[in-house]
Amino acid sequence: MKKVFIDTMGCQMNKSDTERMLGILSCLDYEETKEPKEADLLIVNTCSIRQLSEDKAFSMLGLWGKWKSEGKKIKIGLCGCVAQQKAEKTFRRAPYVDFVLGTHKIYSLPEIIKRAEAGERVCECTETNATEDDKAAEFPIHRVKSVNAWIPITEGCNNFCTYCIVPYTRGRERSRQPEIIIKEVKDALNQGFKEITLLGQNVDSYGKDFKDKNYRLAQLLRDINSLDGNFRIRFVTSYPTDITDELIETVVELDKVCEYFHIPMQSGSSVVLKAMNRRYDRDTYKKIVEKVRKMVPDVTITSDFIAGFPGETEEQFQETLSAIDEFELDYSNTAAYSPREKTIAAKWVDKYIDEDIKTERLARLNEKVRENCLKSNLKFVGREMEILVEDFENHKGQNVITGRARNNKIVHVPCEKDLTGEFVNVKITGAKTWYLQGELI
Ligand code: SAH
Ligand code: SF4
Ligand code: F3S
Repeated sequence: MKKVFIDTMGCQMNKSDTERMLGILSCLDYEETKEPKEADLLIVNTCSIRQLSEDKAFSMLGLWGKWKSEGKKIKIGLCGCVAQQKAEKTFRRAPYVDFVLGTHKIYSLPEIIKRAEAGERVCECTETNATEDDKAAEFPIHRVKSVNAWIPITEGCNNFCTYCIVPYTRGRERSRQPEIIIKEVKDALNQGFKEITLLGQNVDSYGKDFKDKNYRLAQLLRDINSLDGNFRIRFVTSYPTDITDELIETVVELDKVCEYFHIPMQSGSSVVLKAMNRRYDRDTYKKIVEKVRKMVPDVTITSDFIAGFPGETEEQFQETLSAIDEFELDYSNTAAYSPREKTIAAKWVDKYIDEDIKTERLARLNEKVRENCLKSNLKFVGREMEILVEDFENHKGQNVITGRARNNKIVHVPCEKDLTGEFVNVKITGAKTWYLQGELI
């Protein structure tokens, strides 16, 4: 058996691709190693959402290239979003790379590995308008050991937000066939996974591109909910204006679907939202969040925000801070704006915000997120919640289980027994910024 090491960066979509690549590679007699120095094949599965992630990928390749020049017999591959974007250009910058495989054809890995092993330099970054579902059933998926299985339902994105590279690295939006998704869900449940998270850049568009049937996310949730077993279902990410009433009603109606929505807002200012090409303004976002909160008891709503988008004024930035307060957003991912090749906003160089202002805004944004996260957590003290245990650890001499409530809140509970994978009822006794504390009941 040969050994492969894959370093995965970026979003869950990439992590899911890595699990597929490891499955494909296992059919080629490669087993995974967590130790890069032991590997015969080294792959970095990259993210290009920000410049920093792209730079990290190349510095990793540089290190491996050094090992190669010192005589180590290894093959090096660049996969994922940076690969899709750089394609052939990679070889100029990193000549020690043996193959570049973009995001559209990961099932051509066997062919690529064969050619690379024969000494050829290979680049496969052709865009396709189809999913690779016809190949998916042929290979196992090597899922990371956990209670949660991530299952992509759509690939790509059609939204073209002006800052975002994803439509260029992942191509047009394509929905995977329900039968394939349901098969993957059943396989994961049979393997003992207790939580299924359906993945897509914009999950509420699921099925829009099916010409032969009217089958949308709500229907997919119903079909998965009807499978036997005690498990939970989640879905991310929701684009604000695509969340339908039917979807919200379905979340309320179905027992396995959790009360959790990730609805990135990106900015609290309507002017900035327009420049970002997001299809809603502050007030529309507010109405959507209010509707979700009204219809789904105890729901948690999380978001993403960008600080320092080109042209963002101090006042507009403050609207982002006030949005987090006003809409009581439970948690938000944050980032300083990073110009990305090919995107529209990257061309607005004269409107770029100074780095130090961006850094300072990001720090204030993070502070606001922390403050609201604690505020949100405090609301649950005294309540009883069901958690799905994900972890068992000894923390400062005490055994503790960690799990998530249905609304995605993290809960730590002192417990002598490893209950990983079990559903446990707990009483919330305290709240910290990033987690709740509880006790078994
Ligand atoms: N499809 C999701 C987001 C996917 S990308 C959505 O529509 O919200 C994940 C997050 O990365 C985005 O929500 C955004 O906040 C951030 N992001 C994307 N491009 C960025 C850029 N150029 N600079 C900084 N952050 C960015
Ligand atoms: Fe990027 Fe916008 Fe698509 Fe999200 S919806 S992936 S932010 S283009
Ligand atoms: Fe994901 Fe990064 Fe690509 S966020 S889709 S891996 S650019």
